[in-house]
Amino acid sequence: MRDVPCRRPACLDAILADAGRTGFAMSCEDRTGSLLATLAASKPNGRFLELGTGVGAGAAWLASGMTAGAHLITVEANAAVQAIAHRHLGGDARIEFVHADADDWLTQEAGVFDFAYVDCRPGKYVRLPDLLALLKPGALYVVDDMLPQATWPDDHQPRVEDFLERLPEVPNCRATPMNWASGLVVAARL
Ligand SMILES: C[S@@+](CC[C@H](N)C(=O)[O-])C[C@H]1O[C@@H](n2cnc3c(N)ncnc32)[C@H](O)[C@@H]1O
Repeated sequence: MRDVPCRRPACLDAILADAGRTGFAMSCEDRTGSLLATLAASKPNGRFLELGTGVGAGAAWLASGMTAGAHLITVEANAAVQAIAHRHLGGDARIEFVHADADDWLTQEAGVFDFAYVDCRPGKYVRLPDLLALLKPGALYVVDDMLPQATWPDDHQPRVEDFLERLPEVPNCRATPMNWASGLVVAARL
């Protein structure tokens, strides 16, 4: 079984080329992106959230699965990195780029979302209850990089292990860890 996606967003290669040029090594891999697109397609006209835009690979995949009436808010603390994403995806009116620390953003935000892809510490290793509070019942919650990554700092492994260990006890969340791609968790908000 080949699990390499056959459909990729048109702008993805240009985004990844910019990532290579600027030394950004944290974009999601294609299999993860394809799953994001598939899950995005399951929420017609949904409200989507990404914490940690990076250079926009994940957002490009999400957008490729979103319907015309859907909306994505993508939050990133690093303006230079997000500028790359904006250059490639800024023409898509469905995507709203927010330059903010996700920790601050979670404090201020009161919206309601159908889907969250959390790719930085707030909303995953810290502030998970606050993130889940923004999700509708039935909304999906996705995280990646649960398997060791070359970009991890030395002290990161215990953080991931603790997250995975605590997840089954989170009362309003039904999660499935997946030993696939970079290591994913796909969960539904109860
Ligand atoms: C793994 S990369 C994101 C990759 C992107 N989501 C994708 O799928 O291609 C994580 C990003 O989160 C950003 N980040 C880290 N801490 C953050 C924070 N507290 N608030 C917002 N962004 C943060 C980093 O600057 C980095 O660009």
